Amino acid sequence: MTILISSRLGETRQGQAVTLRPRKSFSVAMLLLLLSGCGPVPQPAASPSAQTAAATPAASAATTDPHTMKQNNHAALSWQSKVFGQLPDGREVTLVTLKNNHGVELDVINYGGIITRLITPDATGKPGDIVLGYDNLSQYLDNNPYFGAIIGRFGNRIAKGQFAIDGKSYQLATNDGDNHLHGGVQGFDKKLWQMQPFQQADSVGVELSYLSPDGEEGYPGNLQVKVIYTLTNNNELQMQFQATTDQTTPVNLTQHSYFNLAGAGSILEHQLEIPAAQITPVGAGLIPTGELQAVAGTPFDFRTAKAIGRDIEVEDAQLKLGLGYDHNFVLKATVDDSLVLAGRVLEPTSGRVLEVWTDEPAVQFYSGNFLDGSLTGKGVQYGHRSGFCLEPQHYPDTPNQSTFPSTLLKPGETYSAQIVYRFSTKS
Ligand code: GLA
Repeated sequence: MTILISSRLGETRQGQAVTLRPRKSFSVAMLLLLLSGCGPVPQPAASPSAQTAAATPAASAATTDPHTMKQNNHAALSWQSKVFGQLPDGREVTLVTLKNNHGVELDVINYGGIITRLITPDATGKPGDIVLGYDNLSQYLDNNPYFGAIIGRFGNRIAKGQFAIDGKSYQLATNDGDNHLHGGVQGFDKKLWQMQPFQQADSVGVELSYLSPDGEEGYPGNLQVKVIYTLTNNNELQMQFQATTDQTTPVNLTQHSYFNLAGAGSILEHQLEIPAAQITPVGAGLIPTGELQAVAGTPFDFRTAKAIGRDIEVEDAQLKLGLGYDHNFVLKATVDDSLVLAGRVLEPTSGRVLEVWTDEPAVQFYSGNFLDGSLTGKGVQYGHRSGFCLEPQHYPDTPNQSTFPSTLLKPGETYSAQIVYRFSTKS
């Protein structure tokens, strides 16, 4: 595993990033997924990157502007880094751009590990940004409904922010009515992470790390967290989440990108498939009841692809509670490290296809019900249901539900989770 070198937060130094060794931690399933490749994503017809698309091994020579821009090479497969802004306390926030050889490109900042921009070609090769986000740091600081962010320590809700471990009670920060949501008031989405870009033969990426101190938001133990985003020439964004602790603590990390594969407008015509036979139904405050509910014969049956909007207004108690889809779909009966499909989405006008793969046992499908047009970013007004999220994770409120697969991480163990976004097109 790479050793992070962080001189000053937000600063990356030329040369360090191109000397990393390939990592060993991918599972066989991940390897198979990589080898199987995905549908061809056409390269943008006239893009300069298409002309330089030959795979370039990690370059040793680099062109660098020492003040504002650092980059490792001019080829398509590359990373670049620049200053994105400053936090109120003066700490600098960095933005890294990752590009592959096929016109997939993303920006990530070390504030919240937020993916601020994600470009993929449509079926005609035209590039477009498929994630919701903002133009500048102050917008992210002012009001971000988790656009693009890493979520932790615990994705989703914990009832009343309370749980007990070995008879000892803990009270977490509450930030969603009476409940705890997405790590609390200052979750991992609002932390400045150390970030180190890297390049390998067929991929580029960033390694993000953060030490969550004992007691943060009420959680026990010092939690050392690492998240690695890797953009491959197979048109995948692979995300690995790892953590270790010195006291037993719940951990449930995820990624909260909001997608709109058409770039803007409603997501209700996006065709969604989720291969899940059950959801964890919720009660008030979107806290699971503890049961599992079959999707058959309900609006929650996405086992055959259908438009997100097809059944969203159907009279249904669960849809009413969620104000639409905001539910946890069960992907696996047992917890293991095999990668499974969490969702496949086709946007018919652009032909873009997004697949989300994970080794997590469940995925939260959120249909952007709380977006109401009051937020605008990157020239787009984010109207009701103009973005959707597929957030692989363990079930909500697991610390209070003895029948759900455990989310406890103990000293000496390593938490590990994987999420893969796979981009392709269909004409
Ligand atoms: C998650 C939750 C939603 C909502 C969004 C952010 O998906 O399940 O209820 O809080 O995050 O707005």
